[in-house]
Amino acid sequence: MLFPDYRPRRLRKNEHLRRMIRETTLSVDNLVYPLFVTHGKGVRRPIKSMPGISQLSIDLLVEEVREINDLGIPAVLLFGIPKNKDEAGSEAYERQGIVQRAIREIRKKASETIIITDVCLCEYTTHGHCGIIKNGDVDNDATLELLARMALSHAEAGAHMVAPSDMMDGRVSEIRECLDENAHEGIPIMSYSAKYASSFYGPFREAAGSSPQFGDRRSYQMDPANSREAIREVSLDVEEGADIVMVKPAIAYLDIIFQIKEEFDLPVAAYNVSGEYAMVKAADRLGWVDGEKVMMECLVGIKRAGADIIITYFAKEAARILRGKV
Ligand code: PBG
Repeated sequence: MLFPDYRPRRLRKNEHLRRMIRETTLSVDNLVYPLFVTHGKGVRRPIKSMPGISQLSIDLLVEEVREINDLGIPAVLLFGIPKNKDEAGSEAYERQGIVQRAIREIRKKASETIIITDVCLCEYTTHGHCGIIKNGDVDNDATLELLARMALSHAEAGAHMVAPSDMMDGRVSEIRECLDENAHEGIPIMSYSAKYASSFYGPFREAAGSSPQFGDRRSYQMDPANSREAIREVSLDVEEGADIVMVKPAIAYLDIIFQIKEEFDLPVAAYNVSGEYAMVKAADRLGWVDGEKVMMECLVGIKRAGADIIITYFAKEAARILRGKV
């Protein structure tokens, strides 16, 4: 049927009609809020390029997790800012490391919020790379053992889920084996499966103090021009035992999210990264876009593309809107 017999506008006449035929609904259940935890007490260190986001010491972090739980957000993703960095990123897998301590405190004092931990060495190494350096590049196999130790130390502290973001080959099976051998077979792995070497991570590197001190991450993170390679990366992670697969960043990679959702039957997560957040905030401050509306449009777009889970710095703001609490 064609115009004038068929008129798509008939179903767009008012909000009730639009609601009836809406194909995608964003829910607070889909959101995960990233948090940066730092040493000290009473510390709230705002991140300049990410308005509204701060590094928090454990005491304030616990309060923040309570607020997140009250907003109905089911999970947080924890990143640690260590006291000291070294070549091997030792604080990443210490029992008294910042993330391990934070997990124990949250478990003790705040709610049943799901605690997911980022498993990667870049915040903890002096050189800022995601693994051990040999001959000027990250040594894949030497890094695996440390990542597994890091994941295990998080599980032992009480993390509910681990999320490796390093992009080393074989890390999912190494982590799975290590968790299983140590009676943590019930801890799921959310793998950053298709993680691109992206300039959208800029503000995060200020937030986490994790900029590479030489070179870049292109020898381990993916080339933004590739999509078939993303399918291959996800297949490997699925075979190695990933429970949730992730695409990162989100907005510039919606086609990847779509393809992964079509191809695999595991839950798909998308990471709406720091640069994507910063751009919306900056344009909103300049009065160039309505930040709130653009935020909701981005989030629904990520969901429409196929993401079941959206990791986003907007989680609190979006949750308030979704729950009608603004
Ligand atoms: C650690 C890690 C990064 C991000 C999440 N985990 C940075 C990177 O790979 O350089 C980026 C998150 C964001 O930009 O919001 N490897």
